[in-house]
Amino acid sequence: MTLTGTQAVGAALSRIEGREKVTGTARYAFEYAAGRDVAHAVPVQATIGRGEVVEVDTDPVLALPGVIAVIWYGNAPRLGPSDDGELALFQSNRVAYRGQIVAAVVAETIETAREAAGRVRIEYRQEPHDVVLRVDHPAMYRPPKVAPDYPTDTEVGDPDTALREAAVSVDLTYTTPAQHNNPMEPHATVAVWEDGGLTLYDSNQGSSAVRDVLSRLFELPPDRVRVIAPHVGGGFGSKLAPHPPVVLAAVAAKVTGRAVKVATTRQQMFAFVGYRTPIIQRVRLGAGRDGGLTAVIHDAFEQTSTVREFAEQTTTPTRVMYAAPNRRTTHRLTALDVPTPTFMRAPGECPGMFALESAMDELAIACGIDPIELRLRNEPAVHPETGVPFSSRGLVACLREGAERFGWADRDPTPGARRAGRRMVGTGVASSTYPVVRRPSQATARVEADGRFTVGVAAADIGTGARTALTQIAADALRVSPDEVRVEVGDSRLPTAPIAGGSMGTASWGTAVVRACEALREEIGRRGDVRPLEARADTADEIASQPRLSRHAFGAQFAEVAVDTDTGEVRVTRLLGVFAVGRVINPKTARSQFIGGMTMGLGMALMEESVMDVEFGDYLNHDFAQYHVAACADVPEIEVHWIEEEDPQINPMGSKGIGEIGIVGTAAAVANAVHHATGIRVRDLPIRIDRLV
Ligand code: MOS
Repeated sequence: MTLTGTQAVGAALSRIEGREKVTGTARYAFEYAAGRDVAHAVPVQATIGRGEVVEVDTDPVLALPGVIAVIWYGNAPRLGPSDDGELALFQSNRVAYRGQIVAAVVAETIETAREAAGRVRIEYRQEPHDVVLRVDHPAMYRPPKVAPDYPTDTEVGDPDTALREAAVSVDLTYTTPAQHNNPMEPHATVAVWEDGGLTLYDSNQGSSAVRDVLSRLFELPPDRVRVIAPHVGGGFGSKLAPHPPVVLAAVAAKVTGRAVKVATTRQQMFAFVGYRTPIIQRVRLGAGRDGGLTAVIHDAFEQTSTVREFAEQTTTPTRVMYAAPNRRTTHRLTALDVPTPTFMRAPGECPGMFALESAMDELAIACGIDPIELRLRNEPAVHPETGVPFSSRGLVACLREGAERFGWADRDPTPGARRAGRRMVGTGVASSTYPVVRRPSQATARVEADGRFTVGVAAADIGTGARTALTQIAADALRVSPDEVRVEVGDSRLPTAPIAGGSMGTASWGTAVVRACEALREEIGRRGDVRPLEARADTADEIASQPRLSRHAFGAQFAEVAVDTDTGEVRVTRLLGVFAVGRVINPKTARSQFIGGMTMGLGMALMEESVMDVEFGDYLNHDFAQYHVAACADVPEIEVHWIEEEDPQINPMGSKGIGEIGIVGTAAAVANAVHHATGIRVRDLPIRIDRLV
């Protein structure tokens, strides 16, 4: 598609690298270093839930043909300090959880390394482990802040008194299980030491971030570490920060003097690269008979590991959603003998909104008010906790347009009223929200000798279409066609950039790209068309000086389900989402993000669940046979719309993040629809058959 002038943003461009991807020529991390003297490292995982490694018997394994090294605490190089205990690989003999990497085999082939890793004998001193999350756990504590740096608790007014005095109130507990990030491409790293520096071909969500962490760990100046990742097959948050396999590749390459590949297997994805923490949430709502909220109290209880604190920001969406004069949100955490949880698509918003939006549905029923009407009656004029105005807030518009498109007006609210053969049919609604954040980024824009343009930013295109969106943004800023612009991403040598996370990538990188392109145009205007010519931008000051406003995206999600009265099987038969996300840069890739998010939300509602084996202290499902994600046959036609929303207060593109909001309201919409269909309220995800019969 060829475009001219200033109209690239808003066009449905196909992914620039799409052809490379579907023809297999796009190279992913594991495919690099071909032709080099490559060795393979395979981790050996702890088989106890807590204790110490006493001894690793390396000799029999080293005697196997093709084995180059066996690495463990007893012989590993010492690393620099890290604030992430997960990355202190082989720095202690402590075992913090079952499945933790306690040794590794490096061998000539991946097959030899795997076989040998299976034969490593480790002597442990075992201690009893504690892996069960519960609200009354004696070690439950108040973390100093929640991810990434929100206040742990907030309180306005007197919520306890207001709740006690409310005409209508609900007091409900919801649980969400551990869920494991499973991007299509598992984590993979190729590490090469040369000229005293380290090069990593690494599947990640931010090459600048990986560079910074690894340079500290190996005590190198940042410019001696290079991280390359032009194509990444997804992350869902598990590749935002490096995990132990990245360190393993670098350590193994250092020990052996070889280029070393580490490919995390699908089974290992369930062990040491993070997961969404299981959460117990209590939501208390108080309202007048008219549904006007007088009290909102939302408490979350979660787990982290003993090696690193990760506190999910679960109740943060409740701070922004509905007006109520009296309110409190809290987070409490227990450090258990489990792997460290991490960010997973819409961490905080997604599980938090499952609880809040289920509770709003329950309150609507208690008040005898339509659930959409209840939300409209509690729409705040300003941020309900801080009083700060919104830059734009499209929730009401999304609810109204969604209701219209879904056909909500005809709905009989009586549970169990609709039948289709032996299936009970119901519909549900839930709101969505996601914060609009920008982080400082740098970028360069260059006019080449041939008159074409090259834009550089260490962004990560994890399959979202970020490279394509940035090309459109650059083309408009340069006032040329996208065909004349090449955007380089996925290399830490490019201008330093924030991660592809928090749905803030395009906004953060895009601002820097616009500023670099503007600077280049200005430079060309001043100096004439001198070629080549490069301009650079850094958005730190611009972002630090932006006015104080509440910046958020909103959405409304609708679900229809059919529940088999004989088997209890739930099928989602319709999903519809309407979103208010500012300006949509690329309708094609944006639609894919919303559909992907809603599909993942469907999986969260009905399938995804990592089950703790209490005896062994480990998540027992380790593959897609036992950990179910939504497959094509589970997913109906998903309808996605967005409203026109102009917001000049967020960034020069006027765009809000779209990668995560799609998952936020889906699970609650499905659970609310299941209640409408059956009269059964399922407050524990996933909505399994045994929870309905
Ligand atoms: Mo997203 S969990 O911020 O990659």
